[in-house]
Amino acid sequence: MKPQRKVEAYQQFVLDCKIYWSTQVYPELQSHYSHLADQAQRSGNKAPTQAREAQALLADSTLYQFYAWYERHLQRMKYSGRMGLVPHFDSERDTLEARLAEADSLDNLQLDPAFQPPRYYTSFDVHQHPKGLAGDSLAGLVYEQASRSTTPLLRRDRDLHHRFTAELLARVRPKRMVDLGCGFGKSTRPFYQEVSGIELTAVDLSEPCLRVAALNARDDQASGVRFLQRDAADTGLEAGRFDTVTSTMLLHELPPPHLERVVAESFRLLEPGGTVIHLDFLVPDPDPFKRFIHYSHGRRNNEPFMEPLNELDLVALHKQAGFTEVEILPFEEAEGTLAPGYRAWRFPWAVVIARK
Ligand SMILES: C[S@@+](CC[C@H](N)C(=O)[O-])C[C@H]1O[C@@H](n2cnc3c(N)ncnc32)[C@H](O)[C@@H]1O
Repeated sequence: MKPQRKVEAYQQFVLDCKIYWSTQVYPELQSHYSHLADQAQRSGNKAPTQAREAQALLADSTLYQFYAWYERHLQRMKYSGRMGLVPHFDSERDTLEARLAEADSLDNLQLDPAFQPPRYYTSFDVHQHPKGLAGDSLAGLVYEQASRSTTPLLRRDRDLHHRFTAELLARVRPKRMVDLGCGFGKSTRPFYQEVSGIELTAVDLSEPCLRVAALNARDDQASGVRFLQRDAADTGLEAGRFDTVTSTMLLHELPPPHLERVVAESFRLLEPGGTVIHLDFLVPDPDPFKRFIHYSHGRRNNEPFMEPLNELDLVALHKQAGFTEVEILPFEEAEGTLAPGYRAWRFPWAVVIARK
């Protein structure tokens, strides 16, 4: 559904503010932090090495408080309030629910009416999305629209997922593949579009998201793809059947014990020699400022497992599960974003690759 003009204009305003925040406020904050760190050292204090020390250094900074407030509230404005996406979609509820009901007759979708999502999943409004990704029948449509401005500088909506698909296809030629935490199918779509003859199984906890994914695949006239309502930690799929297991932006959404189960489940699903390849957010270096900014972004965006993921030894976790050749590599989500002079805010995109 295309938003009404006034909602569209408001959402564009929110996006413009987010671009200002990324390209102006964040670099300013980074310079301010460097200045504070230099000053601290000149006064005989040791330079911060930990995220919490960077936090302490910025505790009294009005610029940091503004930066944090602005980020938190722009995200809230996207979803809530008179021009937010949730009330907007709600105003068209009957039409949209009728469209989503078409998914009931699709062969590419398996929902489970008795499905109980894990407790962590329903215990907070992830991304500040009221009722989260599964608490309302329209949540998948709202999420689809909201995702268009999650990475404010990536104007071309398809860029990121298609770039990741290219990265994956440079390493493996999947024939039987699983996409864990597929959401409304944005990460699944490039695979069924670009790999002919692929057998693609996509799983997610959210019925509203899976309905959108299945309808989009129908509209794309995709074959060989199915969407299942399953937990990535316990998919019920056949052991050893798949040559590739992937996920995009799933790992940071999992509490560490659940993440451990997802790693073990990925290993179980793969045939010997198979590859797991995840795209997620992992701060590549110990830089305390970058770590603090990323962890506090997680808190502001209601993504509480962002910090635990980054504090885990993911390589060791994969090796314990039986994987070999585990690598974590930075991922350039758009041309030039890994260049040393790139100053705007960005997610610390990274690819985790491991072989069974
Ligand atoms: C940030 S979204 C990413 C969606 C999609 N991969 C994309 O790139 O647009 C994370 C997805 O993981 C799903 N998710 C969270 N925990 C899960 C779990 N234990 N099993 C399966 N899916 C899960 C959420 O419902 C959500 O759709």
